[in-house]
Parts: sequence; C-alpha cells; structure tokens
Amino acid sequence: MATQSAAKKMVRTIVGEEGWKRLRRYRRKLAGGPAPVPRPAAPTGIAAISHDLCKLAQHFRTDKWGAHRYAQHYQRHLQHLKNDPINLLEIGVGGYSRAGQGGASLRMWKHFFPNAQIYGMDIQDKSFVDEDRIRTFIGDQSDVGSLVGVASEIGTLDVVIDDGSHRSPHVLTTFETLFPLLRDGGIYAVEDTQASYWPEWQGSEDRDDPRTSMSMLKRLTDGLNYEEFVDEDYEPSYTDLNVVGMHFYHNLVIIEKGKNAEGTNKRRVLKERYGDGGTRR
Ligand SMILES: C[S@@+](CC[C@H](N)C(=O)[O-])C[C@H]1O[C@@H](n2cnc3c(N)ncnc32)[C@H](O)[C@@H]1O
Repeated sequence: MATQSAAKKMVRTIVGEEGWKRLRRYRRKLAGGPAPVPRPAAPTGIAAISHDLCKLAQHFRTDKWGAHRYAQHYQRHLQHLKNDPINLLEIGVGGYSRAGQGGASLRMWKHFFPNAQIYGMDIQDKSFVDEDRIRTFIGDQSDVGSLVGVASEIGTLDVVIDDGSHRSPHVLTTFETLFPLLRDGGIYAVEDTQASYWPEWQGSEDRDDPRTSMSMLKRLTDGLNYEEFVDEDYEPSYTDLNVVGMHFYHNLVIIEKGKNAEGTNKRRVLKERYGDGGTRR
C-alpha cells in the first residue's frame, strides 16, 4: 500500500494537477463509472447578491436600504415577479439637479429583475443613466400629460414606484393618473409618506386633512371593504373596485391591484336591517 501511494505521489508530481485530474477521469472512464458532474461555478460580484434587494440597495447606494428600510418590504411584495418580463416605472431617478448624479435604484431594479425593462421619470434630464434595459424620461409628476405620455411609451405597467417630489398634491395626481393604467395584479408603491405630515412639503399637521397623501392612502383601506357598506346608494369608486391589498410600513405604502369583488355576508348577518332571512344578496 505504502509503495502504491508513493508511486501515485510521484506520478502526480510528474504530470501536474491538471494531468492528474485527466488521468483520474480516464481511469474512471475505463472502469465504467459515471463521469463526475462539474459543479456550477459559484456566482461572484453582483450576480452573487442579485436575489437580495437589501444587498443590491447597499451595493448601488440607493437610500432604499440604510437611510430608509424599504428594500426588505419590496423583497416580500415583488419577489413573485423576479423572473417575469415586467415593465417597472419609478418616478424619481435621484440626484436632483446635480450633474451626473442618480440612477441608483434603477440599477438595483435592473439587477434584481433580470428579464425586466426598467423605466425612470424625473423632472431633470437623467438620460446619462440610460443603458441596456434602463430608459429614462423627462417629466413632471404633477402634470397629467407627462404621466400619460410616459405610460403610453412604456405600454403595460406592472410596477409603479413613486419616489419623486413627495409633495402630497403630486403624489395624488400621480396615483390618480397611473393607478388606472397599472395592470391587474400590478403593484403600486408610494415612498417617503412622512412628507404627508410636513406643511413645508405641502403636507399637513392635521392627520385628517383630506388633501394629504396619507389621508388618500388611508381612505383606500375603507374601499377594500366597500361591499360591507350598508348605504344602498353608495356607488363604488374605481379604487374600491380595483384595490385588493394595502400594506402600510414606516414611510412606505404598497398597494396591490386586482378585482375587489369577494362578496359580503351582510344580508345574512344583518337580518333586522334586510329582513329577508338572507335569501337576497
Ligand atoms: C429621492 S430622489 C429619487 C431617488 C431614487 N429613486 C433612488 O432610490 O435612488 C427624488 C427625485 O425626484 C425628482 N423629482 C422632484 N420633483 C419631481 C417632479 N415633480 N416630477 C418628477 N420628478 C421629480 C428629483 O429630481 C429627484 O431626482
């Protein structure tokens, strides 16, 4: 045995590591054993973190992780679309009017969604960010014409993220314009809702002020349950009929679009009000 292993050692020294591996493969082939399955190379660089939005956010230096804690929530709500050929539009590319600055989050989305087209819209020219699968538009989110124009250039909208001016009137105009254009099953996100409470940012100290973005978003939660309203004259709004999920986080709200028509048990439960023993819906 000792002589055999000394001989092996000598051959290995003579033929080198590569030659030794070849010899072993050849010996296995002669013995009729299965060829070893080559292990896929472990991903390196960005590929190694492309499944993890928190790491991608840090890598590309968007404040969606760090200053804010949004990436973890996006991971949960967008994971199911990861390999789909989606169109994602983000309002607010970043960098404001600083030359050559911005695009961090668009690059993060591009690496998280390998088959997606990523679009950005900003009031400033951010065309230097454009590259394969990333395209930017100049547009003001307070202007309905700009929003509709960008949406029609893109086609189907699967995901919309509002990370633009954060001014409540702008957030409302953008939502009222783009939400109806989002596809069924799509996701709409509003970031930095803290600005809703700041008068300096066109928000309000009055948490019930109906003009703020948070008031508008909170109203949508009642709409989820419009089928339970007992006012027989109530006409459901577009959002009542098309919002199926609302998720509130610190400074971030995520809205799921879909057909909201699960029905109600109110006629069976409220017998005195409806007086028909629940036979009528
Ligand atoms: C917070 S930054 C976006 C950061 C970027 N989404 C990220 O996560 O890396 C906000 C951007 O919104 C843009 N913006 C401000 N007002 C806007 C408006 N009315 N319409 C469109 N974009 C606007 C600014 O120029 C700025 O680049």
